[in-house]
Order: sequence, then C-alpha cells, then structure tokens
Amino acid sequence: MNSMYDSYTLSNGMQIPCMGFGTYNAKDGDNYEIIKTAIKAGYRYFDTASFYFTENDLGRAIKDSGIDRKEFFIVSKAWINQMGYDNVKKALRKTLNNLDMDYLDLYLIHWPKVNEDDDKWKERQKETWQAMEEMCDEGLIRGIGLSNFLPHHLDNILSFARIKPLVDQLEFHPGYTQEAAVSYCRENDVRVQAWSPLGRAVLLDNAIIKNMAAKYNVSPSQICLRYCVQREIIPLVKTSTMERMLQNKDIFGFEISKEDMHIIDCMPQAGWSGEHPDFAIPKVNADKLLCD
Ligand SMILES: NC(=O)c1ccc[n+]([C@@H]2O[C@H](COP(=O)([O-])OP(=O)(O)OC[C@H]3O[C@@H](n4cnc5c(N)ncnc54)[C@H](OP(=O)(O)O)[C@@H]3O)[C@@H](O)[C@H]2O)c1
Repeated sequence: MNSMYDSYTLSNGMQIPCMGFGTYNAKDGDNYEIIKTAIKAGYRYFDTASFYFTENDLGRAIKDSGIDRKEFFIVSKAWINQMGYDNVKKALRKTLNNLDMDYLDLYLIHWPKVNEDDDKWKERQKETWQAMEEMCDEGLIRGIGLSNFLPHHLDNILSFARIKPLVDQLEFHPGYTQEAAVSYCRENDVRVQAWSPLGRAVLLDNAIIKNMAAKYNVSPSQICLRYCVQREIIPLVKTSTMERMLQNKDIFGFEISKEDMHIIDCMPQAGWSGEHPDFAIPKVNADKLLCD
C-alpha cells in the first residue's frame, strides 16, 4: 500500500480503501465541520453507524463537497435494537434517508448479541443476515459485513450465509490485537478493520509506542496506524483537526522493521476499551433508533 487510496480486494471482488475515517464521537455539534475538513484533507472512506448519530452530517458534508458520491466509500451499521428481519430492513432505509444516499458501500451488523444474557443471538443473526442479503440483491448495499464478531459468532453466520461476510470490524491496536479473531477472519477471507486504532488516544502516551515513534522520527499515532497497515488491517481513525488528519494519512513513507513489528505484536495489553462482544456490551442511549 502506497497511499490511503490504495485498496484491498474483498472476497466478492469489491475494492476497499486501505484506511478510513471514523465518525464516532466527533465533537458534539461539530460533526459536519469535522467531516467537511476530513474530506478537504483527502479522506474518502467514512465509517458511521446509526447510533453515532452522524449519518445526517456525513451525508450533508458529502453533498456540500460537490464531489461525486461514487468517489466515496461509505459504511454504516445496524445497532442491536435494529436487528431482526423487519427491523434491519427499516433501519437501512432510515440510514439511507439520513445520509440522503441511494446505496451504501457496506452495511454491518454492529454487535453480535443484544445483551450478555442473550440466548437467541444465533436465530436473530440469521434473520438479520437474510434480510441484509436481500437488500444486497436489491442494490441498496454493495456488500455486507460484521463488527465485533468473534470466531464462534462468525461460525454461526458462515453456517447459513448465502452471501459471505466481507469484513469484520474489531477493536484492534497495539496492546489489543485479538489474534484469535484476526487469524480466524484471515482463514475465512474476511478482511479485518481496526476500530479505535489509537486505543482512543491512550496509546499515544504509551512508552513502547513513544520510543518507537522517536526511533522512526514519526508520531505515536503514525506508529499505531502504520502497524495496522503492515498487518493488512484497515485502520478507521478519528480526529478533529486538519493537522492530525494530514499527519494520520502520512504513514506510507516509512516501514516498521520486522523486529519492531514483533515487539508491538507482543507488547503488554494497553488501551483496551473494556468492551467485549459476549461479556461487556456497550450501553448506549439509542432508544430513538427503535424502528416503528
Ligand atoms: N464497530 C465498533 O464497535 C466501533 C467502536 C468504536 C469505534 N469505532 C469506529 O472507529 C473509529 C475510531 O475509533 P475512536 O474514535 O474510538 O478512537 P481512535 O481513532 O483510536 O482515537 C481517537 C482519539 O485520538 C485522538 N487523535 C487522533 N489522531 C491524533 C493524532 N495524530 N495526534 C494526537 N491525537 C490524535 C483524537 O483526538 P481529537 O479528535 O481531539 O483529534 C481522539 O481523542 C470511530 O470513530 C468509529 O468510526 C467502531
């Protein structure tokens, strides 16, 4: 990969850019301006989700940029209260309406279970996936995928999928690399994407990462993002300033040595969000997403 516009080929033949911009927790009220700045900085791949409540701002910023929709790669996700056959169909229409677009590049199931005691997750995933496959057939989505699915959740999807999941978006960064899930995805030709590739900025103060940044004469953020690229994992990074947007995409002019990659691979746990797909599902205020 030589720039963030270079791409991987997904299992259905679709191209996906090797780096994207995250829109979760863009500063309240400023989402539109931040996304507009990110477009000016050159970002074209945007990651959103219904519960981020950034779809409207993203759609507006893209429209106002005057750049053709086809130049962008747009991904959104169905939250846990939008799962189920009818719900997810309504949810996608709402998402497209929010974005004011007629298709998404990828649509993901955001989380495998609705809560820690969920004993109906297998059936719910099946209905949800089948509805998503139909929406793919209708041309409303170019591809479908998953987020926060561990190998046992992926097994369930693979047991009935007519259309295979193209990606799995996982928490992935130095200090939390989920090797079991990453290898399983690789074996099944599911491209991994990294959420919180900077560990929500916690890693920027980590001594191992800071020393490595000094050695390569780059910033700690560039080490984290370059690490993802060298692992062939797509980082989805979020920032609010033009300066950081430019810095974060400037990661293609240096290479982390094999030895240093191993040091990062094996560093002690750091920057973990505390979230877990089975045991610690994030509690978010998403009642207004419920489909009527
Ligand atoms: N699928 C999921 O379940 C899931 C979960 C979480 C996140 N995500 C996705 O992943 C995206 C990124 O994750 P994230 O926002 O949690 O965390 P992140 O990208 O790891 O970190 C963002 C933080 O790093 C700071 N930052 C970014 N670039 C920097 C730089 N060059 N120098 C110094 N500080 C820098 C940002 O500050 P400023 O903004 O102040 O610059 C912000 O505080 C989200 O926006 C979302 O799209 C998905």
